[in-house]
This record gives sequence, structure tokens and C-alpha cells, in this order.
Amino acid sequence: MENKKLVIAVDGYSSSGKSTLAKDFAAKVGYVFVDTGAMYRAVTLSALRNNLFDAKNNIELEKLEKLVEEIDIHFKYSKEEGRSITYIGDELVESEIRNIEVSDRVSYIAAVPFVRRKLVDMQRNMSKESGLIMDGRDIGTVVFPNADIKLFVTADVMVRAQRRYRELTNKGENVSLQEIVDNVKKRDHLDETREESPLRKAKDAIVLDTGKYSPKEQLDWLMKLVDEKTQSAK
Ligand code: DC
Repeated sequence: MENKKLVIAVDGYSSSGKSTLAKDFAAKVGYVFVDTGAMYRAVTLSALRNNLFDAKNNIELEKLEKLVEEIDIHFKYSKEEGRSITYIGDELVESEIRNIEVSDRVSYIAAVPFVRRKLVDMQRNMSKESGLIMDGRDIGTVVFPNADIKLFVTADVMVRAQRRYRELTNKGENVSLQEIVDNVKKRDHLDETREESPLRKAKDAIVLDTGKYSPKEQLDWLMKLVDEKTQSAK
């Protein structure tokens, strides 16, 4: 696969397997992979550390605005992990941004318009020179409405919750499956119903149900799709 470098937008529900597909694809063909959920998570972690949430998850918006202006979120490629991992300044936060405290609050942060504006700006400025595959909720609808390929990734709630549960318990986190099911459902609802850039399938996105295919089948399918697109662009 060579020649035209594409922009591929991968949107969909939480824990639908979109990052795994995007990461595997990027590693295989040398595209840049950006997990935009990690950016919303990094802002959430920083807001938590600065005590910007009250007990009802209301946010101190003035302080958040300042925090978002100053925060330095970036990614560095890790050979061991085979993917880019997330830093705030010099601190590696990849593991901490996935914990349940952050997962429970990230949808509130992601609903704040000025947070979205700042992160969307950063996302649009990320390198496209080597081909880009970016995953999130609004990549095909807002960040790159002219993306060459748009995927909308989904899977049954239980399939997604079990995936997240395995991920967290493998890391030694003490969580129950029910807690994860509740968190996944709550996030689906908040992501789909927020006013600012809600999770929507772009009109021209292709739906992929990851519950039906193995990661290898998904990767082969995407490689073929990209090949076809690249050939037709020649
Ligand atoms: O993909 P994820 O579960 O790590 O995303 C974390 C949260 O960030 C999710 O609840 C929705 C939000 N998000 C968003 O609103 N827009 C994006 N482009 C990516 C994530």
C-alpha cells in the first residue's frame, strides 16, 4: 500500500474496539495514530487533580478554561506498546487516564464547548504527512468532515463492557462487571445526547460491528478498503 496518504476517521461507542483497530492499522502501514479520547481523558485527569469537580460532577468552569489553555498534552511512540502513549508535560499518564475515576467523569468534560474547541484545533493540526488514522466521537463529523474514509464502530453493550472489564482487571484494578456496564451505558447516553458535537454516524461512514469479527478480520477488511481507495485515487 503506497502513494496517496489518507485521513481515516474512526468514530464509535466507548470500548467498541476502535482504538485496537486504528492502532493495529497504524502499526502495519506506518500511519500516525491519534486516540482523541485520551486527550479528553488527560484534561479530565488534570481537572480531578485540581479538584475542579464537586460531588455532583459540576465543574468549576473558569478554572477549567485556564487549565485547558495551559495543559500540554502530547503523544510519544512507545516501542514496547507498539503505539503512541499519552503525556501531560513530562509525565506519562497513559495508565492513569484509563482508571474508573477518570472514566466516570470524562463525559462531563467532553461536553464543555471550550474544551472541545481547543482539542479539535489540536487534532486538526496533527501531522497528515505520513497518513493519519484518528479515533474518537466526532472525527468524521467535525474534526475531518472531508476524511478519505470514515468508519462508525459499534458492538453490543455487554461485549464492550466485558472488554473494558478484562482490560481493567488485567491491570489489577478492583472493579465489578456491573460497575463497568453502568459506566459504558452512562457514557453512551451522555455522548449521544450532549449538545456540542454529539456522537453521530456521519452520513458517509461505513458501519463496522466489531462483535462479529476478530481483530485480524477487521484489520484485513480495513487494509482492503484502504487499498481500494488508494487505487481509485491513482
Ligand atoms: O474513547 P474513550 O472512551 O477513551 O473516550 C473518552 C470520552 O471522551 C468519551 O466518553 C467521549 C469523549 N470523546 C469525545 O467526546 N470526543 C472524542 N473525539 C473522543 C472522545
